[in-house]
Order: sequence, then C-alpha cells, then structure tokens
Amino acid sequence: MPRFLIPIESAPGETRVAASPETVKKFISLGCEVFLEQGAGKLAGFLDDAYKNIGTEVISPGDLDIWSKADVVLCVQAPLKDSLKRLKDRALIVGLLAPYRNESLANSLVAGRLSALAMELLPRISRAQSADVLSSQANVAGYKSVLLAAGALDRYFPMLMTAAGTVQPAKVVVLGAGVAGLQAVATAKRLGAVVFVSDIRPAVKEQVESLGARFIDPPEMDEKPDELGGYAKQSSESFLAAQRKQLSDHLSEADVAICTAQVPGKKAPRLISEEMLDRMRQGSVVVDLAIEQGGNCAETKKDETVVRKGVKLIGASALPCSVSNHASSLYSRNLLALLAPFLKNGELNLNLEDELIAGCLISHEGEIRCPDVFKEGGSN
Ligand code: NAI
Repeated sequence: MPRFLIPIESAPGETRVAASPETVKKFISLGCEVFLEQGAGKLAGFLDDAYKNIGTEVISPGDLDIWSKADVVLCVQAPLKDSLKRLKDRALIVGLLAPYRNESLANSLVAGRLSALAMELLPRISRAQSADVLSSQANVAGYKSVLLAAGALDRYFPMLMTAAGTVQPAKVVVLGAGVAGLQAVATAKRLGAVVFVSDIRPAVKEQVESLGARFIDPPEMDEKPDELGGYAKQSSESFLAAQRKQLSDHLSEADVAICTAQVPGKKAPRLISEEMLDRMRQGSVVVDLAIEQGGNCAETKKDETVVRKGVKLIGASALPCSVSNHASSLYSRNLLALLAPFLKNGELNLNLEDELIAGCLISHEGEIRCPDVFKEGGSN
C-alpha cells in the first residue's frame, strides 16, 4: 500500500496545498494510505477535519518517522533540502519543482536516490490536458490579473449609458495569448472592455478572435517567429524592437496592459520599454505576470505596485496563491489525473515509457534524466 505524504508548503507566500479532500478520498479508494501534515490545507480553506473524516492520518509537521516511510510526497513547490534528506531511497516527489538551472535540487535528488516528477515539464499533448498544472494555474493567474487591473484602474471597464452621459469602455491590451493570456482576454471581455492581443504564434489569432478580441499581427520581417511543441521560441532583439515599435501606439491609447508573454526556461521578452510607458495615459495600469522571468515591462518589481509618472505597474508573481481554494482544487485534480492510471491493486507502478511520465521524470531513483534542464534551462 503506497504511503502518500502531503506536507505543509515551505515556500514563503505559498497558500496552496497539493491534495484536496476530494482527491485524497480518491487516492485512498485506489489503495493508498495518506498522511497530511497538520494544517497543510488550512490556507486553501481545507481544514484537517475534512481530511480526517475520509480516513487521512493527520500528523505533526516534520514527523521524521512518516517522512522516512513515505513512498510519495505530493507538493506544490519542492520541499526544503533538509526535508528531502529525511526521505527514504527511491521515494517519489511530485510537484512544481522548478528544475531549470536548479543544480541544488539535482544534487539533493542524487544524494537521496530520489525520483521526481516536475509537473512543469509535462508534455503539452491532448492526453496530458487533465494533468496540466501550468494550464490550471495560468488560468487562475489570467483571471485574477484582470480583476487586479480593474481594481486599480481609475475608470470603468464596461461601456455605460448613464443619465450623466456615455462612458466609453476600457481598452485592454494583452501581451501573449497562451493559457493565462486567453483567460485574461475572456475575463476582460466579460467585464465589457475592448481587448487587443499581441502574440507571435500565428495559431493564436483564431483563438483570440473567437473570444471577441482583436489580434495585433506580429511585425512583418524576414525573421519569422518560430515555435516548438506549441511554445514560442526566443525572438531576436531586432524582432522584439520592431514589435515594441508596433505596440507603442496601441499602448498609448490603452487603459490596461496585461503582460503574459513568455518563452519556457528563458528570460521573458521585453515588450514595454520606458519610452512606451512615457506615452501611456496617467491612471492606466500594467499587470506583469511574466515578472518571475524578468517581466515583459520595464520597471515592474516582483510583488510590488510601482507608480511611475502616474502609471501603475503591478508585478504579480504569485496570483494563483491569491485564489488558493480553487487553485488547490484544480492542482490536486491534475496530480490525481497523472498518477491514478499507475495505481493498481494497491501499488504504484510508474510506466517509465509512458510519454507523460518520461516527459516530466527528472530523476529516477537518483539518476538524473534531463541534465540540460538542470544546467542550462532546457533545449528551447
Ligand atoms: P507560455 O506561458 O509559455 O507563453 C505565453 C504566451 O506568450 C505564448 O502564447 C507565447 O506564444 C507568447 N509569446 C512569447 N513571446 C512573445 C512575444 N515576443 N510577443 C508576444 N507573445 C509572446 O505559454 P502557455 O500558456 O504555457 O501555452 C503554450 C502553448 O501550449 C499554447 O499553444 C497552448 O495552446 C498549448 N497548451 C497545450 C496544452 C495541451 O495540449 N496539453 C495545455 C496547455 C497549453
């Protein structure tokens, strides 16, 4: 019977939990024994009793005995180095482990002969959709970014016809139309804004237009934006310069810019320069979701709101944590969807040949499977 451990998250500001009572119930029905560190679900609105009532054993945080017996640790972010040391040989860690250029994690996995599934490396194929944590969490971030912008804006979002006259709808520019960007478009449209979208992957245009937004075609240049497995590849500096020039007029008329443009494992493309900010209207708002990767916008600061010449720049790094209950519920379902097919007759047997497992298994019993990810940040 595999023993699953759900620890209290150790990263500062982390409010999510990796297994909700709903998914724990399912793991138990699949023959697992589940241990929860006391209070692990509290910040996500899941109290210990909800877990106890379905047969989870609630343990004291850091209980050495349980850590040393756990077969699987379900986490949101990687446990601390000292916690990893407590695990037995061949234990499996599943979570958003941030492996890019993370040699310290690689060393811990090797030293402890641990296995690890880094959920951010799950292949983006149809069969993986129900397990795709990047999508479930980016969806939350895209939604919340628009609410933050609406709260900070000195104007209405919708067009209103009032006795005092007509109010024009807000103009929102969304940079990057991946999962977060498309959810931002949908949310801004629901609030009544007029939405413009810039992305460099041509496939996105149709999706943007189907949401009722207008697509800003990438600049016409000899260099064509490239993509790999559905992701954008890094553009050259001259391409980005042409793109900034093209976006500058749009931004000068915008009330809100939502920045979500990213290239996996690389620095985020710089799409809004200081000169472009100078042209933005006093009172307008920029929410930069790419801040963790360096940001799409000049002068944004992680988890801070900077007011620059009247323009509010919000560096929003951890928005899923501000919607902790739903973000945790969805994340938990993602982990269940990935692991459930390999739980049979009270045993967990990962199929290492399976495309999803092979894609995100960064270490197998201490053997590192993708050294380039740990060293350089991937092959993109
Ligand atoms: P992401 O977070 O890596 O990037 C966000 C967006 O930024 C992308 O659309 C990218 O094209 C865009 N971008 C990059 N450089 C840019 C630039 N210079 N200017 C403007 N935009 C720029 O992407 P995300 O959200 O993780 O999605 C990537 C792809 O994966 C999408 O095609 C999506 O449809 C696909 N996908 C597939 C899934 C599946 O089949 N399991 C699940 C989720 C997403």
